[in-house]
Amino acid sequence: MDSLGLERIARERLPALLRTCPKAELHIHIEGSLEPEMIFALARRNGITLPYPNIDAVRAAYAFTDLQSFLDIYYAGAAVLKTERDFFDLAWAYLERAAADNVVHSEIFFDPQTHTERGVPIGAVILGLAHACRRAHAEWGLSAKLILCFLRHLSEDAALATLEAALPWREHFIGVGLDSSERGHPPEKFARVFERARALGLHVVAHAGEEGPPAYIESALDILEVERIDHGVRCLESPGLVQRLARERMPLTVCPLSNIKLRVFDKLADHNLPALLAAGLCATVNSDDPAYFGGYLNDNLVQTFAALPALGARDAYTLARNSFEASFAPDADKARWIAALDAHFIQATQAL
Ligand code: ADE
Ligand code: ZN
Repeated sequence: MDSLGLERIARERLPALLRTCPKAELHIHIEGSLEPEMIFALARRNGITLPYPNIDAVRAAYAFTDLQSFLDIYYAGAAVLKTERDFFDLAWAYLERAAADNVVHSEIFFDPQTHTERGVPIGAVILGLAHACRRAHAEWGLSAKLILCFLRHLSEDAALATLEAALPWREHFIGVGLDSSERGHPPEKFARVFERARALGLHVVAHAGEEGPPAYIESALDILEVERIDHGVRCLESPGLVQRLARERMPLTVCPLSNIKLRVFDKLADHNLPALLAAGLCATVNSDDPAYFGGYLNDNLVQTFAALPALGARDAYTLARNSFEASFAPDADKARWIAALDAHFIQATQAL
């Protein structure tokens, strides 16, 4: 794309370009796409009494001070999810929004332990989500895959038991991840369950360096042997680690609006995405928990570019291209999506 003259694209045109270009989403927790309206609808359907009188009161509770203050509310909200149909409806609502954002491929996290601890069968969780993914592909050609996450505040034995319990539905998920409270729960706590997942041929990713130190990114790489780092923004505190991430072309799934709401950075203008890209890292932009953090993927992209004048059309192209390259999709799909992305940007420069 070097000969394209992307620099000639004016800043005013960036929002439309960001919104319309084909892209992949690699860091979205499906429980984090549970909108307050759906919390109320599912509570009614399942005969659950909520501690909030109305939707505005739910939104008013979304004032987070850090990751844990968010997680407390996020797990409470997820308690309205009970049946396979609930999980289908949840994923379908996300996939409709993703399709509207021109997402052509999404790798979706789910937290089975949040549900099995409340007595929901793991098969209902997986089958409901998988049904929505299949239908999105059949109806819109949107490729959607599932990644099963272990809750790191629980024990490794609980994670191992969860993985074994999920195996009858092995064909419905492509990988495992690690999320929840980061500080005090380093990646090495989960060495055995990740070894087991790798032996099963599953892809492996982990949240690291969101609130936790660069050492957690290193142990996710060295001990869990992850293929992507979720967040990873604190890597910039360690120049040696940045060099390694660039050399190994290790993807980072960055979530700008999440980082602001959880106070990793004070404001979008302070976000280190430009520095990550300038360091040659394979950064991608994602929504994390869009119902809680004020925006889906295109909102993350448009708001981040608006706040950071250092980001231009070339970065928009790079981020979308990185999203495809960092995905776990087959090479033929990646090549097809990247060709469509190139065509999109070629058209944008020809319209100048
Ligand atoms: N679970 C949902 N969102 C998360 C985040 N941003 N960090 C860790 N665990 C999560
Ligand atoms: Zn996350």
